[in-house]
Amino acid sequence: MSTPDLTTRPQWQALRRHFAQIGAQHLRDLFAADPARGEQLTLEAVGLYLDYSKQRVDADTLRLLRELALACGLPQRIEAMFRGERINTTEQRAVLHVALRAPATADIRVNGRNVIPDVHAVLDRMAAFAERVRSGAWLGHGGKRIRHVISIGIGGSDLGPVMAYEALRAYSQRDLTFGFVSNVDGTDFVEATRDLDAGETLFIVCSKTFTTLETLSNAHAARAWCVQALGDESAVAKHFVAVSTAADEVAKFGIDTANMFGFWDWVGGRYSMDSAIGLSTMLAIGVEHFRAMLAGFHAMDEHFRHAPLEHNLPALMGLLAIWNGNFLGAATVAVLPYEQYLKRFPAYLQQLTMESNGKHVTLDGAPVDYATGPVYWGEPGTNGQHSFYQLIHQGTQLVPCDFIGFGQPLNPLGQQHDQLLANLIAQGEALAFGKSAAEVRAEGTPEALVAHRTFEGNRPSSTILAARLTPHALGSLIALYEHSVFVQGVIWNIDSFDQWGVELGKQLAKTTIAELTAKDEPPLAHDSSTNALIRRYRQLRDGKTSGS
Ligand code: F6P
Repeated sequence: MSTPDLTTRPQWQALRRHFAQIGAQHLRDLFAADPARGEQLTLEAVGLYLDYSKQRVDADTLRLLRELALACGLPQRIEAMFRGERINTTEQRAVLHVALRAPATADIRVNGRNVIPDVHAVLDRMAAFAERVRSGAWLGHGGKRIRHVISIGIGGSDLGPVMAYEALRAYSQRDLTFGFVSNVDGTDFVEATRDLDAGETLFIVCSKTFTTLETLSNAHAARAWCVQALGDESAVAKHFVAVSTAADEVAKFGIDTANMFGFWDWVGGRYSMDSAIGLSTMLAIGVEHFRAMLAGFHAMDEHFRHAPLEHNLPALMGLLAIWNGNFLGAATVAVLPYEQYLKRFPAYLQQLTMESNGKHVTLDGAPVDYATGPVYWGEPGTNGQHSFYQLIHQGTQLVPCDFIGFGQPLNPLGQQHDQLLANLIAQGEALAFGKSAAEVRAEGTPEALVAHRTFEGNRPSSTILAARLTPHALGSLIALYEHSVFVQGVIWNIDSFDQWGVELGKQLAKTTIAELTAKDEPPLAHDSSTNALIRRYRQLRDGKTSGS
């Protein structure tokens, strides 16, 4: 049965009419009309406090958005996900990252089988391995303890682990170093291993499929580097472990499957950082902190599943994103953590949000006639303020912002944390309220500069505050975004869990690699630009032209 087109739904039409009324209202007016707005338009769950009063919404907007969510079947779709239904319809898979952080007593079924015992069996194996490495009981081929861990993977098999390592570095065991190699550019591997002693280095090869070109190329390079340095093929057994769903491919590569940590096809790559893909995270922060992170995820899962829509944090965030993207016309979202440890959080969110919701057809395969996933981007504050905030404040594009901050610093240094958070708070205020021409004139600004120094304001933002960046808080924060992405996908009626759009480039690259590596230039049958680039690259590589 095909679903009605989103834009013809009465609830969508009602939002359109509502937008015609409220769209031009300035946040200054909304705040003036309701002095309690800054306290009322807030929501707190699982230790995360969301202030969305600086979004361009009122009580009617929120009600209409919730009505749209109900019409789109959001509560039923949430249940379908948690029950293990195959909601990833184009791949005919269940979507059960929530099972990865469910307690051992939970019962979540895929094809009638409870997957929770399998999840916990892998967690326990990871824990035993992590303890051995961290304590020095796991020895390398030459009898030295492991001092360096290099995780090899790409996309979902890299971005989560990198982000989590950086985010939770304050909790990490400092006598172990961690490196992450993802790019097929040899520089990534060479620089990551440059000063390392192979006898003290452990490689974790992370790949759901274990067929990804970049990861396999880097894993082969790592293997050659290790065997050459240690002079013995059998060293691989002590220096390589794999994380994958594909035991046969792991064995083919030459890693003993006894040294493999598994996960399942119902875990999407970009939703896998709390599966065995997070082994490097566990090695860094230890078993207890890893379990605390899982508990943070789970607490947000429970909230998402059970809280009514009016009090449901991920649902609210997802619906605000619909409002900003489809009604206010914002094409991007800036994520601005005022927390240095979250420096890789925007990069992580890019895959989570854009690989999930960068889709142009509905579940039925019909083209959408509305915007879907926005571009996510960002940098930690305050660095961004001295870079791209100018455009957010005075440019011609509307860029809704998510500010993220914590009450307590992990590295107190004089008054610097107060300075940091003062900037976070001030940016949201400046974006919302701006500075009128009258105010600029009143400061004595010469008339020629008044327009330049005027800030129109009315630029929406949300602020997320938590007490402290702990493993638990990180888990909850990530789950908040995961579920918000899901909510948006439900409204847009798209498959947020496939990624067909990455295939074409991969296929074409295979042909191109053959054309670049052939001894003599083969017949080229691409378009004229692609043919010329292949020729020019071959000449440059072979030193046959200066390129000028
Ligand atoms: O090319 C995109 C992608 O399939 C991502 O979805 C995935 O996270 C990444 O490649 C890595 O895949 P794998 O874990 O199978 O190596």
